[in-house]
Amino acid sequence: MALNYSDKVMDHFANPRNVGEIENPDGVGEAGNPKCGDIMKIYLKVNDETKIIEDVKFKTFGCASAIASSSMATELIKGRTIQEAWDLTNSAVAEALDGLPPIKMHCSVLAEEAIHEALNDYRAKHGMDIIPVEHHEE
Ligand code: FES
Repeated sequence: MALNYSDKVMDHFANPRNVGEIENPDGVGEAGNPKCGDIMKIYLKVNDETKIIEDVKFKTFGCASAIASSSMATELIKGRTIQEAWDLTNSAVAEALDGLPPIKMHCSVLAEEAIHEALNDYRAKHGMDIIPVEHHEE
């Protein structure tokens, strides 16, 4: 059975935004799903004074939904503060994509988790407390 993807998912899959790596990033995070084997890596450039994410890139070895989720998530956190980025949930990412098929919701979780890991990497390097990362299925 073919899954129904929204135009936004198809667009972000076909033309993903912010693909790549940042040299000397201020934070790097990785998340993977052991069931499907997909992996997502997020790189952040953060302004130390304003705590605003000035640049963000991703590398995703995964399915179409994972790539679309990374692309959308990077768009949503660019120009935001590290606190605003922390508050981005996987359901907000899926909503911004006009929805994901239910069995593909876990793909958006990778984006939330990879961003959390990258933010914690930044926090650790700047003497800030690490926030526990919640691992959840959806
Ligand atoms: Fe695993 Fe999409 S199927 S991230």
